[in-house]
Amino acid sequence: MRCVDASAFVVQVNSNYLKLKAGYLFPEIARRVKAFSLSHSDKDLIRLGIGDVTEPLPLACRQAMKQAIDELGTEAGFHGYGPEQGYLWLREIIAKSDYQIRGCDVSADEIFVSDGSKCDSSNILDILGTGNRIAVTDPVYPVYVDSNVMAGRTGNAFDTGRYEGLTYLPIDASNNFKAQIPEQSIDLIYLCFPNNPTGAVVSKEELARWVAYAREHDSLILFDAAYEAFIQDKDLPHSIYEIEGARHCAIEFRSFSKNAGFTGTRCAFTVVPKELKGQSITGEIVDLWSLWNRRQSTKFNGVSYIVQRGAEAVYSSNGQTEVKSLVSFYMENAKIIRNDLLQAGYSVYGGEHAPYVWIKVPEKMSSWDFFDFLLEKANIVGTPGSGFGASGEGYFRLSAFNNRLNVEKAMQRIGDL
Ligand code: MLT
Repeated sequence: MRCVDASAFVVQVNSNYLKLKAGYLFPEIARRVKAFSLSHSDKDLIRLGIGDVTEPLPLACRQAMKQAIDELGTEAGFHGYGPEQGYLWLREIIAKSDYQIRGCDVSADEIFVSDGSKCDSSNILDILGTGNRIAVTDPVYPVYVDSNVMAGRTGNAFDTGRYEGLTYLPIDASNNFKAQIPEQSIDLIYLCFPNNPTGAVVSKEELARWVAYAREHDSLILFDAAYEAFIQDKDLPHSIYEIEGARHCAIEFRSFSKNAGFTGTRCAFTVVPKELKGQSITGEIVDLWSLWNRRQSTKFNGVSYIVQRGAEAVYSSNGQTEVKSLVSFYMENAKIIRNDLLQAGYSVYGGEHAPYVWIKVPEKMSSWDFFDFLLEKANIVGTPGSGFGASGEGYFRLSAFNNRLNVEKAMQRIGDL
């Protein structure tokens, strides 16, 4: 019998995936929580880990979605493939209500409707060259890092969990969770404000310094504004386009997930201004808008008609009232978490303009020690700061997305520890 080399029949995998450290943070937490639940089925777990909304979808959105379903059941109202970029009526209302009203010069055709900021902030790498120098804050939303690893834009991981080839901008209590603007030249910079995970915010002046840096170094800022609706201070910027010059250096990601409860329904959008330019390997100047439009037309078929009608209803007068009340509800949760933790003696950050409260874990405990401690002793699920990056070690994130009773119960349990 001939011995066959099995490897001859095995497809090659993307080896970059093998560089990834452990599982993606939230599935890893889910795995640990599941293991705990199996052996403690009597425990009433309170989940303040992943930032997933809990309150029902706004009535205005549900009504619009129901009506859209009925339309699809008629010959005149049926829709097959929609535009890959999103329906114009949704892009127009977004441009007007989220941007033009704030004095930002963003037009409907610069808005690309999608099924999530997580996907868009990863997919954007498709149109960007592999030679770019990339900076992320540390801690950071893990998707930015992992998607670069998967795309082969980093080297291997160091023992710290950081990856060779990425520039990390540490943020912690000593710099008030504001990254220092790099001294060296960086091509791609990921910024997220209000920040996930720390809840930190950026002022217009601070953001203007990032824009000035990007203009000076011909860099591109990937600005994640998925949590802008949670801003409580009218002087803080909701969009990077409130800063002069940002149209030349920034792409912005926005989402309906957290403000309107679309985490399960899926709708978001990305703004790619027409001024943005990049360079090909041969030195040719290319529009990023055209590349993203090409990318979406080829790889994406748009968000469902029903969901886009639901998203459109967010901007109706009832929709706006309901969304404001959802945001206030979660922000009241954040306030309860902040105040009760402060009272329990913790150092607490964020939670004032963001649905995330970032806390310092007790001395001598690591972030994962504290995760296990809270899970076992208080049956509360949170997110270890180290899961967001090496500089998140010693911190812990609690999400304000839950119902009031659970938030109050969780704070009571922490107070009793
Ligand atoms: C989080 O908990 O950080 C968020 O749920 C992440 C996300 O929106 O993908």
